[in-house]
Amino acid sequence: MKYFIYTLLACLLCTACSSSSDSTTDSLLKDITLDIHLKHPTLVTRRQKLYVTVYDQKNSNVVQSKEIEKLENQQVNLKVTPDTPLLLKVEAKQGNTVKSSIYEQSIVASEKGTNFDITASLTTFNRINSGLLRNCVMCHTANLAEQNGHLALDKDVAYDNLVNQQAHKTTMMRVTPKDLDNSYLLKVLKKEVSWNHQYEVLDPVEVEILETWIKEGALKN
Ligand code: HEC
Repeated sequence: MKYFIYTLLACLLCTACSSSSDSTTDSLLKDITLDIHLKHPTLVTRRQKLYVTVYDQKNSNVVQSKEIEKLENQQVNLKVTPDTPLLLKVEAKQGNTVKSSIYEQSIVASEKGTNFDITASLTTFNRINSGLLRNCVMCHTANLAEQNGHLALDKDVAYDNLVNQQAHKTTMMRVTPKDLDNSYLLKVLKKEVSWNHQYEVLDPVEVEILETWIKEGALKN
């Protein structure tokens, strides 16, 4: 028994096993270089930060994550397992919560390490649809639409119900591509209508993202 306790103690105190296994894992990882180009990089709300994160494709574990700058161009290095399919994402986070996914790409790093060129826009419909518009469905969902401006904003119908669709309350389109003055959605969210919309956009950046997306043609991107 005494011998067992001594052995256990010696084992706990000795770091040889754990440190050698660490260095083995480290040596298996390869550097990848990401050339990241962001369009409208400052269009994240004040409390959000941008991260580039590599996920293990099978179980969505984070392999490595790094905060990136709100800049148009930057280079970032990450260490990943080579010859393994991985998922690389650019995300806007608030604290530990992912608020919106900005970019996604499957990657496989080679043994020699690899360069990836990433161009991502912060004003895509995909981002708006997975971010801002998710706050609206407590009212604007299919079975409640009738009492809420006849507008459903569920993820799969949001685009078609907004772009080039005439508003219920006026003859204006909800979203007219490249025409902010004729996009009723903006008038409602900026409270430029005569009635009271029971929803407050808390961060003006959210409106700026919508405006930029409309100015750029309101694409289904
Ligand atoms: C608390 C419930 C509620 C939430 C949340 C809400 N709305 Fe509304 N919304 C309404 C109601 C009610 C109307 C209709 C008011 C009326 O016609 O008098 C409306 C009307 C609208 C209209 C005008 C529709 C038309 O064609 O006339 C738009 C656009 C709109 N909402 C967008 C949004 C967006 C975008 C969000 C989320 C960012 C949102 N709303 C969140 C209740 C809500």
